[in-house]
Amino acid sequence: MIAIGNDHAAVNLKEEIIKYFEENNIEYKDFGCAEYPDAAKAVCEAVVNGEAEKAILICGTGIGISIAANKVKGIRAACCSDYFSAKYTRLHNDANVLCFGARVVGSGLAKELVDVFLNTEFEGGRHARRVDLIKKMEDVFGK
Ligand code: RB5
Repeated sequence: MIAIGNDHAAVNLKEEIIKYFEENNIEYKDFGCAEYPDAAKAVCEAVVNGEAEKAILICGTGIGISIAANKVKGIRAACCSDYFSAKYTRLHNDANVLCFGARVVGSGLAKELVDVFLNTEFEGGRHARRVDLIKKMEDVFGK
């Protein structure tokens, strides 16, 4: 299941992404619209407790909601507004949350970002060692 949430700036774009999920038979759960830190918290809890496999978070810029998401232990959220980044954050960072800004990307690009993010596997190998170093930081800094 893919979790999705947004703030007031992203109501319309979220509906476009939900339409994309429905057209592509992608199971999803809409965690609704809230202030962006609260939206991030609800959606990220679903990811770290295993209810959701990955998540999509949308605010005006994608930045506030990604900052909030990355406060949750176990979350690797990437704010992307280009295809290459959305692809490589899966390949190299094993990102589990994709964020973008409704005031930054149009619905066509947003759907491409979601598509490549959901359909790209983590490469592992040397990148796994680096992701492990990130996980160790979570313990050191008591997230
Ligand atoms: C809301 O106006 C805006 O600040 C928010 O959507 C987001 O862009 C914050 O990073």
